[in-house]
Amino acid sequence: MRIRKDVSLIDQHTFHADVTAAWFAEAHHLTDLVALLRSGVRPALILGEGSNVLFAADFPGLVIKNCLLGKSFRQADQVPGKGLVEVAAGENWADFVAWTLEQGLGGLENLSLIPGTAGAAPIQNIGAYGVELSDLLLSLEAYDIEQEKLVTLDKEVCRFGYRSSRFKEDWKGRFVITRLFLLLSAASHSLKTAYGDLESRLQHIPAEKRKPSDVARAVIDIRKSKLPDPALLGNAGSFFKNPVVEGAQFETLLNLYPDLVFFPQGEGQYKIPAAWLLDKGGWKGKQIGRVACHDRQPLVIVNVGGAGGEEILEFAKMVATDISARFGIVLEPEVNMYPPGKWLEDTY
Ligand code: EPU
Repeated sequence: MRIRKDVSLIDQHTFHADVTAAWFAEAHHLTDLVALLRSGVRPALILGEGSNVLFAADFPGLVIKNCLLGKSFRQADQVPGKGLVEVAAGENWADFVAWTLEQGLGGLENLSLIPGTAGAAPIQNIGAYGVELSDLLLSLEAYDIEQEKLVTLDKEVCRFGYRSSRFKEDWKGRFVITRLFLLLSAASHSLKTAYGDLESRLQHIPAEKRKPSDVARAVIDIRKSKLPDPALLGNAGSFFKNPVVEGAQFETLLNLYPDLVFFPQGEGQYKIPAAWLLDKGGWKGKQIGRVACHDRQPLVIVNVGGAGGEEILEFAKMVATDISARFGIVLEPEVNMYPPGKWLEDTY
């Protein structure tokens, strides 16, 4: 295992900002990971494919790229018609999903083509087209940096929510996820096609004949038509979470904007697509310097070419400040930021 000094991270994260890590190493085995963590170099940061991170400054410590590989599945003895799947944290998520479909397993098709690694997926509980990772996850294996040992964490203790988990909150920096355990369907798949334009893309296939791979193909087509490929245009997917507003604020917004798009969440709460707010606020396709809101999906902030992390962060703050002034809604980033700070208050 090689530990390198002063390494550019430009190709290690999908925003492609040219920042440097003081130290950088790849962990291909669990023993590498443990040795690196025990080396005492701090801060230490675990990186997968860097598809949900914005580096606004050089990283002063050790960046460890999680390269643990391996995946397998077996029939679940106690649950007929189900397959138990294991995947190591460094596997590419989209390739893993495609592999489960090749094995005849269903459940992850709506999560096709999401960039990043399997190990990063639980951190923000990745989700798309009406399915979240936590719907399929049973448990995960992680290295506990505090107790210096491998542990198994059941799904229930991870407090998964919309784009959230304890790994982003009170467990931030404590665990390194090494393996996921999922329960997928091996027969009688239950397909979820109600979200957005998924159903209309599948109209040509009678409902009883649809397979998980048909849904995956439709999801891949939609994603390719809307979302920029990070290999061609630096981005980290949705930059902000979709905000949830309470009844009174919702009524005011609806009075002001009769064309408001919203999704009732129950208990007087309504989720508003951040993309709608950005579109309405004139941010769709708007570029300032070398950063822009994408012209097909404004929720995706793109590095048009050569922007540094700080410039991207400044743009994101400008967008959020404007949306807050227009609609009274403070957009919260979905992307992880380094160095961490208080959104819209701290200088990063
Ligand atoms: N909209 C506009 N103008 C636009 C685009 C969208 O008004 O230019 C409105 C439309 O009303 C549309 C709504 O926004 O119905 C929602 O847009 P979309 O269905 O494209 O999805 P989203 O809510 O913006 C979320 C996830 C995506 C995920 C899609 C599909 C978040 C923050 N984002 O986006 O996740 O792929 O749904 O499930 O929840 C990601 O997390 O990186 C990501 C891409």
